[in-house]
Amino acid sequence: MKYKIPTHLAIIMDGNGRYAKEKGLPRSVGHKKGSDAIKSLSLYANKIGIQYLTVYAFSSENWKRPEDEKNYLFKLPKIFFDLYLQDFINNNIKIETIGDLTQFPIDMQKILQSAKDKTSHNTGLKLCFALNYGGQQEIMSAMQQYATQCLQENKLIDLSLENAPNYFLKPEYPMVDLVIRTSGEMRISNFLLWQIAYAEMIFVQQHWPDFDNILLDECLAIYTKRDRRFGGLNDEN
Ligand code: FPP
Repeated sequence: MKYKIPTHLAIIMDGNGRYAKEKGLPRSVGHKKGSDAIKSLSLYANKIGIQYLTVYAFSSENWKRPEDEKNYLFKLPKIFFDLYLQDFINNNIKIETIGDLTQFPIDMQKILQSAKDKTSHNTGLKLCFALNYGGQQEIMSAMQQYATQCLQENKLIDLSLENAPNYFLKPEYPMVDLVIRTSGEMRISNFLLWQIAYAEMIFVQQHWPDFDNILLDECLAIYTKRDRRFGGLNDEN
């Protein structure tokens, strides 16, 4: 393989609405095409050896969207897993989620749980959907758990960079190596705030439904050339 492969890739999938608008189509079509892009990209990511792919599918702030758009997004997991769950099973991909699912309609929660259960023994790519997720909320929840544990044990528990992630949603996931955001905006939008501390960032102009293997390869070529020093010096200094 000619590129450096990130262990953990995180994607802010932006531009579904603009993709649809440019084609004179309803926003829901953009979201459906966006979900197809997740499927294609995760099969490719799995093939080239990426181990963790976290995708931002519904932020804690997306509740502000119009009711009809939210209702479509709540139906999309069923459409998506009816179409593609077998592909994930056949390709050893494990479906996971982060975020508070309890606020979603019960049918959607069941579909997600079933996809997670049916792929729970898979050992390939971990495909993690961030749903009703916010990075600040995750950090606050970690603080709350830590404080509760301190009270229960009646002492100030030592915190370190090694044990702090135990209070986060996926302690077993490594830090993010690369964040890609589509559709031209250059912001993080409350995604994985702790986990991106040393991540490389790539912003591309294309809308998410147009993101494909070729574009991922282009991002990996850029990532391969980046000099990741983690605050230290490289060999030439
Ligand atoms: C951003 O585009 C996209 C979202 C808010 C939703 C992303 C969801 C998916 C790609 C599908 C998720 C699939 C499953 C199976 C859970 P936007 O609507 O903000 O686009 P715009 O900025 O152009 O309006």
